[in-house]
Amino acid sequence: MTVERTLSIIKPDAVAKNVIGQIVARFEGAGLKVAAAKLVQLSRAEAEQFYAVHAARPFFKDLVDFMVSGPVFIQVLEGEGAIAKNRDLMGATDPKKAAAGTIRADFAESIDANAVHGSDAPETAAVEIAFFFPGLNVYSR
Ligand code: PPS
Repeated sequence: MTVERTLSIIKPDAVAKNVIGQIVARFEGAGLKVAAAKLVQLSRAEAEQFYAVHAARPFFKDLVDFMVSGPVFIQVLEGEGAIAKNRDLMGATDPKKAAAGTIRADFAESIDANAVHGSDAPETAAVEIAFFFPGLNVYSR
């Protein structure tokens, strides 16, 4: 399988719950390495730009409001099949539909406050990593 890099965001709800370490432990336990990380407060402009692909969706303003409501912990995760592995660990977007034992099932409250974001494909991973970590090597091999 290919070694990939993917972008993970631990969202404001999970940071406020003080579970950054528990979530990172799940990534590490699944064989993913943290290749870069930072705790930041996103500006509204940054959140709007990051989620620009969803700008026409009815929940866009709620999503941006939520993402700027407190600090987020942004990481680049690296490992074999990292993009799919991270999505599996996260669980479904709506925590009510997320499989037992996934991050969203265990730490998220609602579809609005769903604990984590993860890139969904190699192309989006490259764009998202460059957005938050410009200059960092984005690769798969
Ligand atoms: S996904 O994760 O992209 O496959 O899911 P999608 O349904 O396309 O959702 C895109 C992002 O929007 C968030 N979302 C919402 N936010 C607020 N309110 C509602 N109702 C809502 N529905 C979806 C969802 O968490 C996705 O955010 P990210 O950060 O990409 O996971």
